[in-house]
Amino acid sequence: MEKDSTPPHVLIFPLPLQGPVNSMFKLAELLCLAGIHVTFLVTDHIHSRLLRYSDIHSRFNRYPGFRLETISDGLPEDHPRGDKFMELFDSLRMNTKPLFKQLLTSGSLVSDDLPPMSCIIADGIMGFTCDVANEVGIPIIYVRTISACCLWVFFCLPNMIESGEIPFTGEDDLDTPIKSVPGTESFLRRRDLPSFCRSGDLSHPNIQLYKSESEENPRAYGLILNTFEDLEGPILAQMRTFCPNIYTIGPLHTLIKTKLAGELTSSKTSSNSLWEEDRSCITWLDSQSPKSVIYVSFGSLALMTRDQLMEFWHGLVNSKCKFLWVIRPDSVAGNNEIPAEVAEGTKERGYIVGWAPQEEVLAHPSVGGFLTHSGWNSTLESVIEGVPMICWPYFMDQQVNSRFVGEVWKLGLDMKDTCDRVIVEKMVKDLMVERKDEFIKSAEHMAMLGKKSLSEGGSSYCHLNRLIEDIKLM
Ligand code: UDX
Repeated sequence: MEKDSTPPHVLIFPLPLQGPVNSMFKLAELLCLAGIHVTFLVTDHIHSRLLRYSDIHSRFNRYPGFRLETISDGLPEDHPRGDKFMELFDSLRMNTKPLFKQLLTSGSLVSDDLPPMSCIIADGIMGFTCDVANEVGIPIIYVRTISACCLWVFFCLPNMIESGEIPFTGEDDLDTPIKSVPGTESFLRRRDLPSFCRSGDLSHPNIQLYKSESEENPRAYGLILNTFEDLEGPILAQMRTFCPNIYTIGPLHTLIKTKLAGELTSSKTSSNSLWEEDRSCITWLDSQSPKSVIYVSFGSLALMTRDQLMEFWHGLVNSKCKFLWVIRPDSVAGNNEIPAEVAEGTKERGYIVGWAPQEEVLAHPSVGGFLTHSGWNSTLESVIEGVPMICWPYFMDQQVNSRFVGEVWKLGLDMKDTCDRVIVEKMVKDLMVERKDEFIKSAEHMAMLGKKSLSEGGSSYCHLNRLIEDIKLM
């Protein structure tokens, strides 16, 4: 039988938050490079921010098969979305779902240049996309943009509920071991579970959401994960008992750089940022000694109180290490101003920006450590550059990731549940001075394994090829 030579057409629909949008754009570019037509669907809100701050349009101009489409998330423009995730989520289910179906059935996504949709790739936390895909008869592959280790914990929520291990409260003994997440019995504690498990309430919306949406994941044709086998192999083996068809194609941001090698002049691929990047920090880093700077950033959603900000600042200054600190304009609860003493007192040994070109920062030779909230993108970006971490997880998956960083992968220190200035100072000194060699050695080893997975014949390289072939057969 003659093979159909029309390239396939894939619709990619990320969860409308910075982290997922970031990694899904990278997946889109990888598919475009393989000659696949891609329609990338973002909410109007994300689209307007991309127009303001990113170079997406010029970046994707080179791919004739790429189109950006928009859809409403049903919320007013001034809604704080990421900060009120459950409201965003409910609105997506309620308002975006029917619009999504309408978009797929209206014929507007098909033209003389664009063949019918062969496959949908959507964030697996948006289970409504699978309902719609089934209704309109298009195969769907899920992407989860979190770690396999956290997703595995989500998969095991029913076990933990059945065994009575959750819920508990912040007042309970948080060092109690957790026994009903297979493969993690020797190191997982209550405090390492997603923060919503501490609510003391089984009907907590997040417990219900992550339990039900994760239970649904095996409904899709396959599951794409932004991770690599050498990092999360044992957990992936557990997950494959539920979801046999897993494509591990991470770290995506480096895979795309590998594929584009030679076409780009810097370590930067593209900016998908939803904030304006302050590139002056790169000039500042250029004047620092190798591996002397600790980079501090808590991602796109985490908030801190003014007291916490001051604890971090005192800890950083007292450590006597150089630091580059991202303080997002909206990240200090109740007051957007950086206190004058912090701004003034930082000048001697630090630099503060509102948003940094993070991938470039982590790849910079002056950066020797990362004080992070353990968001999955940040973790992978650090892992692949061989930068050891101090983890101060804020919520959700970050509590799990930080335990794996500290206890399983030995890539740094887990500082969860405190940011007392004395502890910040001690951990920064440990990471950057006292135990520097030990952490750099294990971080560089994992970075080497990560890069190997992306090179020809490596696990992520092969999984991407398999994904492309599977899409072509759909
Ligand atoms: C949250 C979760 O915690 C994360 O684990 C989940 O996968 C998505 O939602 P977020 O706070 O956005 O994520 O953190 P993270 O996943 O680390 O993503 C942040 C992204 O913003 C990274 O790609 C990082 O490079 C980028 N970033 C961050 C910048 O480009 N500049 C900055 O100054 C800070």
